[in-house]
Amino acid sequence: MQVVHTVAELQALLEKGGNKQIGFVPTMGALHHGHLSLVEQASQQSDIVVVSIFVNPTQFNNAKDLERYPRDLDTDLQALSSVRCDYVFAPSVDEVYPEEDKRLFDFGALEKVMEGKYRPGHFNGVAQVVSRLFNMVKPDKAFFGLKDFQQLAIIREMTRQLDLPIKIVPCQIVREEDGLAMSSRNMLLTDKQRKNAPAIARTLFESCNFAPKLSVEDVKKQVVEAINATEGLEVEYFEIVDGDTLQAVDSWDKSDYIVGCIAVFAGEIRLIDNMTYKNRDHEC
Ligand code: PAF
Repeated sequence: MQVVHTVAELQALLEKGGNKQIGFVPTMGALHHGHLSLVEQASQQSDIVVVSIFVNPTQFNNAKDLERYPRDLDTDLQALSSVRCDYVFAPSVDEVYPEEDKRLFDFGALEKVMEGKYRPGHFNGVAQVVSRLFNMVKPDKAFFGLKDFQQLAIIREMTRQLDLPIKIVPCQIVREEDGLAMSSRNMLLTDKQRKNAPAIARTLFESCNFAPKLSVEDVKKQVVEAINATEGLEVEYFEIVDGDTLQAVDSWDKSDYIVGCIAVFAGEIRLIDNMTYKNRDHEC
């Protein structure tokens, strides 16, 4: 595993690989098993694996959130040594943004809901950095976790709009034993918050039992009430949406792909998760 900090170094190394298939996992560091499972999938499907570690300032709409985002390159490198990763690209802010990125993407209705609505500008920043990283790494495949469900839809749309020859590979959510979706933010939770946070996943899994029987509206109500009844947790939104358009559905027969997406505050820490209620080939 080789660590590089500049685009020139990275591209020189990748050029040596000739026509080998490049699998790319973009991250903001604070790596956990969810990230490592993305790297494992990249290594199964590619000849060369590149992982980027870059805390992207343009996707934070909250300065405090950016400031407290965990950063520890040495620990991340140690975690990556347990999987096959060929190159770690850890650039500086100036390397990624030699000048300000003023591009404004238009993702239409996809960005007007959920994370897009509650974190204005967030997805524009994600698209800025991911398109830059794609341009630097020029991967054949890029791997993203389904936990950031809306981000995945936005990145697919960005790749389509920019006509990039990159296959976007969605990867399953990895959970802690108690169900909590793995996230770099989990390490910011106090012991008490960490103890209460699994109520989010538990409630989502339980909601699968009554999803087809109760109306969409009633499932939403039950999920929000159950999570808000847990000490220290407060739902910011819970939307039940078409998995492709991300627009809210009001009944289970409105789509053959239905996902419930949630954002919950545990104190100041914002956690997201989602549950697929209906997929093309199975129901939850
Ligand atoms: O999901 C993330 O960690 C980030 O949004 C990403 C895709 C690495 C872009 O900074």
